[in-house]
Amino acid sequence: MSDSVSRETPPAPPAASGVFAASLPLAERYAGLLATDGVVRGLIGPREVPRLWERHLLNCAVLGEAVPEGVDVCDIGSGAGLPGLVLALSRPDLRVTLVEPLLRRTTFLEEAVHELGLTNVEVVRARAEELHGKREFSVVTSRAVAPLERLLGWSMPLVRQGGAMVAMKGASVQDEIEAAAGALRRHGAGEVTVLSCGADELDAPSTVLRVEATGLSRLGWDAQRSAAGGPRPERGSRRRRKGR
Ligand SMILES: C[S@@+](CC[C@H](N)C(=O)[O-])C[C@H]1O[C@@H](n2cnc3c(N)ncnc32)[C@H](O)[C@@H]1O
Repeated sequence: MSDSVSRETPPAPPAASGVFAASLPLAERYAGLLATDGVVRGLIGPREVPRLWERHLLNCAVLGEAVPEGVDVCDIGSGAGLPGLVLALSRPDLRVTLVEPLLRRTTFLEEAVHELGLTNVEVVRARAEELHGKREFSVVTSRAVAPLERLLGWSMPLVRQGGAMVAMKGASVQDEIEAAAGALRRHGAGEVTVLSCGADELDAPSTVLRVEATGLSRLGWDAQRSAAGGPRPERGSRRRRKGR
């Protein structure tokens, strides 16, 4: 990777020292990677560079307010590491698994983890659904990955009973919750809370949806896969099997 903090990297704004505290130097190096390699490799648009801190690093770091101490976290659809890598560097108490299907992105993530010297991060190249029934986490995070109904289908099977899905969402989160009422029931959602994270530090706090997992999902793995938009069983396959 090229020299991480280049002249293109915007300087950290004053709010960053409060949000990142002792992790600020690491956050600055990660900002440098995004502004250079991240742009060159097409993982982040050049127009995002001037607003890297406000729109990306700071609003992802404050998601930590919704994550308990010392837990394991899975960030699905991490892209260039948002919010998973930011959480990992700002919260060394967490063990973070970044799940991302695209090779170009996992290569960047692995290199960034190495360059930043992070020892609490695992990068997994996969679609979230491929981990269903194999892995479980206390917290499953995401940003800009899918509309709520599909996101529940991908995330909730990865959440351990008593844990939570913690998703960064936009202003229409309440409408999304209403539209996904059936999916929330099917996926055994307990308490559903909308949080405003970073309200004390940021001009534009992050809207975060927290959905508790009761472990009472009414769906098996196959049904969860089709509810999440995955392949459905072939029509008529049961009849054909019987006739064999
Ligand atoms: C719009 S990008 C968001 C990236 C990052 N979270 C961010 O906020 O910058 C959506 C990401 O989700 C990934 N993705 C799409 N389907 C997925 C799935 N089924 N499981 C995990 N990741 C997925 C894509 O490869 C892409 O990196």
